[in-house]
Parts: sequence; structure tokens; C-alpha cells
Amino acid sequence: MTKLEFMLNGRAMALEVEPATLLVDLLRGPLALTGTHVGCDTAQCGACTVLLDGQAVKSCSLLALQVAGRAVTTIEGLAAADGSLHPVQEAFIACHGLQCGYCTPGMILAATCLLRENPRPAEAEIVHALEGNLCRCTGYVNIVASVQQAARTINGEAA
Ligand code: FES
Ligand code: FES
Repeated sequence: MTKLEFMLNGRAMALEVEPATLLVDLLRGPLALTGTHVGCDTAQCGACTVLLDGQAVKSCSLLALQVAGRAVTTIEGLAAADGSLHPVQEAFIACHGLQCGYCTPGMILAATCLLRENPRPAEAEIVHALEGNLCRCTGYVNIVASVQQAARTINGEAA
């Protein structure tokens, strides 16, 4: 076992992990953050997406030890401290950007990363940013609309 210290959803964590433990397995297992989903385990579907120092990463493709000293945000950590949802979460609800919800945490975190870097993305930029996140249900139209809606909210523009 190896000691691992990192920030998780704004809280300092210190625990012992097996060196071969994947980040997604640490999150979903010992840390019980099951909003991070597993769709493929081969870094293709994006269901396991989390933010690592603000960047969207696939947690099935990282060892837990690779986040030492860094900050991880999962979908459980995206809402504000008072429980109010993040604008991207609100927009996915308002624009019906989900059906079964399996891809949704990863989609929302990938979109959050995009909007932090590019608050006014063109439609093609949204599609490009989310191309590593697969959805079996929605056909993507409402997902793109959700991100556009979130962008308007973040930029203080009328819906
Ligand atoms: S479970 Fe990680 S990309 Fe599919
Ligand atoms: S909403 Fe079902 S996989 Fe995307």
C-alpha cells in the first residue's frame, strides 16, 4: 500500500492505496462516489470523466497515485456549497440533455471544462470537446443545446 494525498471536491484526502488501483475504482469503491460511471474501462466512452486540476480526464485511464498533490472534482463536487446546482447541471435539466443519465456526469464535467476555457464555444467546438463522451440515448442534439444554454447563463445572457 502507498500513501496518497490529494484534494477531492475541495476536501483534503489522505489514504492508503494499492499502487495498481485505478482512479475510477478508488472513487467508486472506497470513496463511494458512484456518480463517476464506468462504461467501457478502455478510455473510450467518457462516462468516468472527472476534473483533474480543472481539466477533464478519464478516470479509468489514470492510476489513483497519479493524482497525488492534485485536485480532483467529481460530479458530486460540482454543485455550490449551498447545494445549488452548477449552471451546466441546471442546463442539462432544462434542455433535456439526458435520458438514462449514464453518460451525464461525464458529459457535464467535460462541458464544464470546455466552458471554463472557452465561455462562448461555437457549436462545432462543443461537438469537438464532447467527442470523447459517448451517449447511447439522446442523439446529442439536446446535449449540445444544454451546453449552449449553460454558456448563456455563465455569460449572463438571456436564455
Ligand atoms: S469507463 Fe472510462 S472512458 Fe469508458
Ligand atoms: S443519456 Fe443515456 S447514455 Fe447518455
